Amino acid sequence: GKEQIIVKVMILGDSCTGKTCLLIRYKDGAFLNNNFISTVGIDYRLKEQQVDQHGRQESQAPGITRFSDFLTPTNSFSQIWDTAGQERFRSVATSYYRDADALLLVYDIANRQSFDNVRDWLSHIKEHGKEAVQVTLVGNKCDLPRVVQADEGRRLAEENGIPFMETSAKTGQNVDRAFLGLAERMIKM
Ligand code: GTP
Repeated sequence: GKEQIIVKVMILGDSCTGKTCLLIRYKDGAFLNNNFISTVGIDYRLKEQQVDQHGRQESQAPGITRFSDFLTPTNSFSQIWDTAGQERFRSVATSYYRDADALLLVYDIANRQSFDNVRDWLSHIKEHGKEAVQVTLVGNKCDLPRVVQADEGRRLAEENGIPFMETSAKTGQNVDRAFLGLAERMIKM
């Protein structure tokens, strides 16, 4: 039989940077565009649930963490976790990403503070994350007038030896690439 690989992907970053929107855009865009899926050879199904800070299923809780599962034809099994960015939920996020294989670290290119906080997120990840965790830096909301230059994001990513891209959950720009690039890297490992 096929080997089953479990990949746990999480989306991290400050509150309001668009983490939930990125996940929703990815999910819907991918469902609508079959060509894209066959191009990269990854098929999947998404299952979305909401859990509270204790991991229980919940529908209406504030600051909920949402996760989605998808299956690839190689029968690898991935979970994408969308975390709450608010400071008061930081410890909750930490307990979830301790065993994450891949992280999308998101800032908002129209919000300088969210970019400045990326360094804090990175050191937090170094301290609490898996040693081999794959991190991708994502500057979201690239449809908006920017206050953070693309070069700044690129430089920060280079300093940390991680990939970088700018996305827009609103227009869909680069969203599939961000997620599928991550999936491809994980499958190659
Ligand atoms: P927390 O759950 O608090 O951590 O927030 P979040 O990071 O999940 O942010 P969310 O996805 O809820 O988006 C926050 C706000 O930004 C919403 O009003 C979105 O409509 C908006 N937003 C998200 N992505 C984009 C984008 O790419 N472009 C624009 N213009 N707005 C966006």
